[in-house]
Amino acid sequence: MEGESHHAIVRHQFGGRAQAYLGSPVHARGEDLDELVRLVGARPQAHVLDLGCGGGHVAYRLAELVGNVVAYDLSEAMVATVAAEAARRGLGNIAAGQGPAERVPFADGTFDVVATRHSAHHWHDFAAGLGQARRVLKPDGMAVFMDVVSPGRPLLDTWFQALELLRDPSHVYNRTVAEWQAAVTAAGFRPGPVSRFKVRLDFAAWVERMRPPETHVAAIRSLQARAGTDVAEYFRFEADGSFTIDTMLLAAQPA
Ligand SMILES: C[S@@+](CC[C@H](N)C(=O)[O-])C[C@H]1O[C@@H](n2cnc3c(N)ncnc32)[C@H](O)[C@@H]1O
Repeated sequence: MEGESHHAIVRHQFGGRAQAYLGSPVHARGEDLDELVRLVGARPQAHVLDLGCGGGHVAYRLAELVGNVVAYDLSEAMVATVAAEAARRGLGNIAAGQGPAERVPFADGTFDVVATRHSAHHWHDFAAGLGQARRVLKPDGMAVFMDVVSPGRPLLDTWFQALELLRDPSHVYNRTVAEWQAAVTAAGFRPGPVSRFKVRLDFAAWVERMRPPETHVAAIRSLQARAGTDVAEYFRFEADGSFTIDTMLLAAQPA
């Protein structure tokens, strides 16, 4: 992996793990997906972009409500997996596309809804990705940003980013809700309501999805064993290493 760009590291990390993300219960289900479905509602004419689609769980849920969905991801393997799964589910209105969020190959104002879930914390140029989301959204469209978020306090933030990076070198940065709101505003959106969620990560499954080296797994467990009570209690560290994180859904409209 030495000498690879960040995008190459993302493709490498996710490339071999597409089936794991397709089958992952924490990705396939969630209160945030239910809320997304409520927000979007039935829009039979709508064109939707799922930016950083991973295993395609946003695309599958929305395809039942809207005209069509483009499931777009940097990883060729993810895109191929979503295309095959959409066909298996009989969702003929999902098209898959490959490329970076920072440069999407769609015309200005193409989509009625742009959604992204648990992907933006991997983008090497977050502002560029948000700018692309804004560019391809129709003037009366809706953006829905869903991601893992940092609790904000420096103590908790440093611990969280450290655990994430040890597990996955494609991790860039978990932002706070306030950082998201500021970035979305700077990209030309008017941020709307925010919903927050707690998500429990089963340690064995969390590690297995990314398969870090054993030394990194040992380092994560060692860090957890040395955490202060405020960190251990906030993330609800469990004996087997499982822990609980924050996620959010932020809806926004073009400003
Ligand atoms: C955790 S998975 C996404 C999960 C998925 N959206 C879901 O709801 O289950 C993160 C995905 O973001 C993609 N990704 C990371 N950086 C990207 C970028 N710069 N452009 C496009 N996709 C990116 C990865 O390839 C990976 O498939």
